[in-house]
Amino acid sequence: MKCLPVTKLEEGMVVGKTIYTSDGRPLLRRGTVLERRHIERLKNLGIPVIYVEENLVRAEVEEAIMDGVRVSAVQEARRIILKVRKELKFYNKKVSEVDLSDDMERVKGVIDSLIKEVLKTKSALFSFIDIRGVDDFLYSHMVNVTVLGMMTGLSLGYKPDKLFLLGVGLFLHDIGKAIIDDVVLANQKLFDRETNPMIIKHPLIGYELIKGIPGVSLLSAHVAYQHHERVDGEGYPRGLSGSEIHEFAKIASVVNAYDILVSGSPFHPRVKPSEAVDMIKGKVRSFFDKDVVEALLKNIALYPVGSVVKLSTGELAMVSQTKKGFPDRPIVRILKDQEDRDLDVSVEIDLSFRDDISIVGVIE
Ligand SMILES: [Fe+2]
Repeated sequence: MKCLPVTKLEEGMVVGKTIYTSDGRPLLRRGTVLERRHIERLKNLGIPVIYVEENLVRAEVEEAIMDGVRVSAVQEARRIILKVRKELKFYNKKVSEVDLSDDMERVKGVIDSLIKEVLKTKSALFSFIDIRGVDDFLYSHMVNVTVLGMMTGLSLGYKPDKLFLLGVGLFLHDIGKAIIDDVVLANQKLFDRETNPMIIKHPLIGYELIKGIPGVSLLSAHVAYQHHERVDGEGYPRGLSGSEIHEFAKIASVVNAYDILVSGSPFHPRVKPSEAVDMIKGKVRSFFDKDVVEALLKNIALYPVGSVVKLSTGELAMVSQTKKGFPDRPIVRILKDQEDRDLDVSVEIDLSFRDDISIVGVIE
């Protein structure tokens, strides 16, 4: 299975992984033979990449969470954002008047099932390239940030109770965006200090929405409040620094950035995981906490399954499996030799055993 930009899709290619809409309907099922109309539809929805079957290499993506759990989490994210938006904009309620107490049982159910998945698949790296359209961006983002953030928490030694408080905060971290128009959201820059005044408000609005819900920890509310703070004190809304920022929010800050970088938002071009990791490493001690970044990096596959890579030997290979503990040394299958000739036989190399060979570049 190979991850291809939608611009490179051709008729006759076979869908490798089912694509769902944010309301849980399959948009294109695995095994569908692509026709022109499918490709046009994907382009219209702003979907940047999809997985397609590759005859040459059989590779399965071992995911941190199952499709079904992900799909219902995205549905719940969508439901709660649309509810808040309706109450604030349609019924003109004040933030303090929005009552989410009836919604929390469902949110808690989502977090519980995500924790179970994260604990069950402890050996998996976050190797999944998320497929989402422009309109679904926020909902998938809420779920991805929750999953990756909880994996990071697990690496920091968090027990399930603590993961739960973190998970609720991560899932709702951007709930304050429900009040902001999409056009204004388009102005949010990831690493830019000049941020639109409306955007600066979303952490506080999120905090106020969450802290009013009975039975929800104030710690979870602070994830929303502090997720755009920077360890050097240059973040927003309060300019907190270092130990003034709760560790939960430090996790939210870095996984938020990672997800936006690799999934691509409508306003940031998608970058490869290895590039995103380099960008994040470059912001340690300014934007991000060093220990939290280290914990996150233990969980990310730098070269996800399906990536085509150049080896130090000059050979071209495709990643067929990722290994926990070896984020930059996956198992690969050779596609072409040093002379650019296709191989007749299948040769697989486990780079975690081969210190003499390294990945020197990513082709796709
Ligand atoms: Fe945010």
